[in-house]
Amino acid sequence: MTDLGKPAVTVLGLGAMGSALAGALLAAGHPTTVWNRTPEKAAPLVAHGAVAAATPAGALAASRLVVVCLLDHTTVLDVLAAAPDELAGRVVVNLTSGTPAQARELAVWAARHDVDHLDGGIMAVPPMIGAPPAFVLYSGSRAAFDTHRSTLDAFGTSSYVGADPGMAALQDIALLSGMYGMIMGVLQAYALVRSAGVRATDFAPVLGSWLTAMSAQIPRAAERIDTGDHTTGVVSDLAMQTAAYPHLLRAADEQGVSAELLAPLLPLLRRRLADGHGAEDVYGVIDLLTKENDRA
Ligand SMILES: NC(=O)c1ccc[n+]([C@@H]2O[C@H](COP(=O)([O-])OP(=O)(O)OC[C@H]3O[C@@H](n4cnc5c(N)ncnc54)[C@H](OP(=O)(O)O)[C@@H]3O)[C@@H](O)[C@H]2O)c1
Repeated sequence: MTDLGKPAVTVLGLGAMGSALAGALLAAGHPTTVWNRTPEKAAPLVAHGAVAAATPAGALAASRLVVVCLLDHTTVLDVLAAAPDELAGRVVVNLTSGTPAQARELAVWAARHDVDHLDGGIMAVPPMIGAPPAFVLYSGSRAAFDTHRSTLDAFGTSSYVGADPGMAALQDIALLSGMYGMIMGVLQAYALVRSAGVRATDFAPVLGSWLTAMSAQIPRAAERIDTGDHTTGVVSDLAMQTAAYPHLLRAADEQGVSAELLAPLLPLLRRRLADGHGAEDVYGVIDLLTKENDRA
């Protein structure tokens, strides 16, 4: 049931995620106008009170606040550029995944068209949208975030991470990088035990407990990286880890399991060791990943 006292919102893009976003706005009572290239996808939302616009221009004209969730950056620029006259004075919240540079490019483009721009990174899958466990990172216009936060909270937990329009995309990709690192480790672990006939489901409890215990390394690593102190209280030093790491590769080979997910870390460990950091912790390897001038 839409509540005419609530701000109207337009959603451009009704894929799996755009439909979930529009559904959450409707559930929160926002008058919601939707547009999608394939118009049939609007039908379930129209059944719940949305208004379907025939064109991006019609959709933009309906609301000051516009949420964009399309396939990629190029599609966003193409769709918005199709309705330049309706853009001025709008607040565009782009929730399409992209890189920080793409978000910054969109911010420049938006400013040229008199659009207030927020960029966002959705840390959820569509069924999670509409409840607090879904969180969305926003960066760009602080004024736009403050003005529209209560509307954006319909999607989940909203978090503003900075005025740099690329910051939300950067943190989104940093979080996904952490996630894929974990997925790589989980895949390797299951491949190893499967090579000896152990079912993944049987190994899952011990792997889960181990990774949960190891997650304590996340704040520890952060403190060491921020302070640059890689020597105080080191328990498992880099020299030991560089000697032990090849066992992971050799064991995989012995079991007929590919080590290609694990192999890239070894040359970094060896370079850091060769640079004279053998007595330090492993987190000093970050200095091989970031350029000198990137560090605070
Ligand atoms: N799904 C997730 O779990 C998830 C999670 C976080 C972030 N995201 C991000 O959310 C964004 C949308 O994801 P999604 O899952 O909704 O993807 P999707 O289901 O593939 O939907 C893609 C959307 O883009 C539209 N589109 C594609 N090419 C177009 C073009 N040339 N012109 C106009 N519209 C075009 C599609 O329109 P048609 O319907 O006409 O094809 C559809 O509305 C992506 O950037 C994705 O990375 C998704």
